[in-house]
Amino acid sequence: MERSLSMELVRVTEAAALSAARWMGRGEKEEADAAATSAMRDVFDTIPMKGTVVIGEGERDEAPMLYIDETLGNGFGPRVDVAVDPVEGTDIVAKGTWNALAVLGVADDGHMLHAPDIYMDKIAVGPEAVGVIDMEAPVVDNLNAVAKAKGKEVEDLVVSILDRDRHAELISEVRSTGARIKLIPAGDVAGAMNTAFDETGVDMLIGSGGAPEGVLAAVALKCLGGELQGRLLPQTEEQEERCGRMGIDDIHRVLRMDDLVGGDDAIFAATGVTDGELLKGVHFKGGRATTESLVMRAKSGTVRFVDGTHNVSKKPDFVIKP
Ligand code: FBP
Repeated sequence: MERSLSMELVRVTEAAALSAARWMGRGEKEEADAAATSAMRDVFDTIPMKGTVVIGEGERDEAPMLYIDETLGNGFGPRVDVAVDPVEGTDIVAKGTWNALAVLGVADDGHMLHAPDIYMDKIAVGPEAVGVIDMEAPVVDNLNAVAKAKGKEVEDLVVSILDRDRHAELISEVRSTGARIKLIPAGDVAGAMNTAFDETGVDMLIGSGGAPEGVLAAVALKCLGGELQGRLLPQTEEQEERCGRMGIDDIHRVLRMDDLVGGDDAIFAATGVTDGELLKGVHFKGGRATTESLVMRAKSGTVRFVDGTHNVSKKPDFVIKP
């Protein structure tokens, strides 16, 4: 995978974020997603790679673009697996709240898990706590292990958990240890990624969310030297069959980093759509739009924050007024 690919790919998430941001706070999540998807698709055509969508907007018959198995890129360059989420947190954009991102991940050809769009149980940590978590261990053991690895007391920890009824038991278990919780309304890719950055104040992510988002978060944490473990949670026979069709043999086993995103290299790019702990969202002023992005590569471990100022009149296709 060429080094320069990462800088090219950040243009893709910038375009998606610019397009989605015009829909911020307008209560129309489908429109935000459609605008970002179309912008992302357009910029992918210019990227020097032979990509195949592994995680996308749905199956070919459900999604007009960025569907699973669609080929992406200008046909030159490395053969890669691609995971995309043009808007990670569509509800967040619709409501104008925190932490919506445009994200993508790229891995060596054949090395990314074909995760079906079902739930996945997840536990994620940053580099300091790699190797000490165990999805099959009780929550309290994981909290103790992470606290020890980070040189903290358990009550100093902050755990991100999606604010969902299904997490009621998990939330009371975590609270009973004295650890503190950041309940997030949506967006567990940001929740997982934030564990690798001290400035976010988040030590762990625990709980169930989308399996595709689990793979994207694993790509981010692979680049950051962190760790995510996941277990698929099929809820119907049809979902179990879907896992089988995607080549997942034992659907109940714990998926580790190498199962989620293997190979030597990977690239992850994200641009803020709405403001978050790590990245500011898109801000518009006087015919210009500013973006904040993060782009990183597993092989080199380089993490770059990229600030952009975009002249909206010169990018009319990306910044369409609703
Ligand atoms: P969307 O971008 O599709 O709205 O998903 C956002 C998200 O919050 C993910 O970050 C998370 O993995 C998943 O939805 C959780 O699903 P649910 O809202 O059903 O609990």
